[in-house]
Amino acid sequence: MSVFSMRIRWRSLLDAARRRSAAAPRTAAPRRTIKTTRTLPPRPTRRALATTLPSRPARRALSTTPPEHGLAEVGGAALDWPRLGFDFQKTNGFVKFTWKDGVWDAGEWEPEPYLKLHVMSSAIHYGQGVYEGAKAHHCADGSVRLWNIQANAKRMLEGSERMMMPEVPPEMFVRACEWCVAANRAYVPPYGTGGAMYLRPYIFGHGPQLGLSAAPQFHFCVLAMPVSSYYAGGLQPIDVLVAHEADRAAPNGVGHVKASGNYGSDIRVSIDARADGYATVLYLDPKEKKYIEEFSVANFIGIKDNTYVTPDSPTILRSSTNDMLMELAASDAFGMTVERRPVAAEELGEFSEVAGCGTAVVMMGVKSITHKGTVHQYPSIERAEALYDHYRAIQFGEAEDPFGWGTACPPLADVAA
Ligand code: PLP
Ligand code: COI
Repeated sequence: MSVFSMRIRWRSLLDAARRRSAAAPRTAAPRRTIKTTRTLPPRPTRRALATTLPSRPARRALSTTPPEHGLAEVGGAALDWPRLGFDFQKTNGFVKFTWKDGVWDAGEWEPEPYLKLHVMSSAIHYGQGVYEGAKAHHCADGSVRLWNIQANAKRMLEGSERMMMPEVPPEMFVRACEWCVAANRAYVPPYGTGGAMYLRPYIFGHGPQLGLSAAPQFHFCVLAMPVSSYYAGGLQPIDVLVAHEADRAAPNGVGHVKASGNYGSDIRVSIDARADGYATVLYLDPKEKKYIEEFSVANFIGIKDNTYVTPDSPTILRSSTNDMLMELAASDAFGMTVERRPVAAEELGEFSEVAGCGTAVVMMGVKSITHKGTVHQYPSIERAEALYDHYRAIQFGEAEDPFGWGTACPPLADVAA
């Protein structure tokens, strides 16, 4: 029998089976009275799931497994620091907390970069997850400092509330980041290489969950990876395309929180733009397509004379980098006027400089923005570069930090479970 006639025979067998099943009664069970009142599951409260933080366990032997590269020596992993780019790099391990029955556990150390998850985890099927991006730097005085980490802790709280996930208490969030950095000191790029330790705190639902609801369990993890520039060339200006046929966020959706799903929808849009020669995309507001929102992974900054302009919109992610740069721009060091307000796309032609900002990119210069065939060009990045230099100098402890953005990372023994 040929493959073709085998397929036909299978198809007719299948058709016959389908006909038999359609003709058969739906249930062989005798008729019973059917209750018509449906009971709806209890409505979740508007708050995030309640959480109890366990009291800190008495100090035991460190649960952090012996790392590959020693604990104390910054840069001991001897990687090619300036050429790291922004890629996954295996380190000594990561920190994992588990939420179950309303409480977080004390946290544990995972040496291998894998998680064992239930196949029906809500993070995988329904996108119940929120992540953060933070950084730590090896500074001029030899200390390793976390960068404005409280802002990340606060934003994760807001995201968890919106996505119906338990709160990660800021104290636990910060300690988890400190633990992860301290146990990965060997991978912190040494001062002078320009690199940073990128931290990825994230919370997501796991455990068996088929109906659309909050997961029965959650993990909160923090990973640490050494990085250099996000875009090759750092502040080196890039060409950008306005993605006027795609939206990053919905008008009353979750664009203002760092929900994982926001990023999934951007992948195709950004890759298509790259294929056309643009390093990234700029999104407009999803309702009227009239106002500038933000870049794929960075907030928008436009500079006009001595004014720093950044969009105000309920659908963009409030960048902690942008908040810091605004403070810096308004400070005596720069004396700029700062405006956070709706910014019409028509204004693209009025800026002398345009830049993007975010934890991963720090700042990116923009050379041109193409909007429906019109190419707006920005030949200068002078003011943006001055802001960038000063900001970087504070990050690396070369300039005074009057804002208190950097906080020293305690030794491992003080922060590990
Ligand atoms: N906007 C989006 C969409 C982002 O993904 C990021 C990156 O985190 C930012 C803005 C910048 O935010 P932050 O400076 O807090 O990292
Ligand atoms: C960050 O800047 O930290 C981000 O989260 C962006 C990410 C896509 C790298």
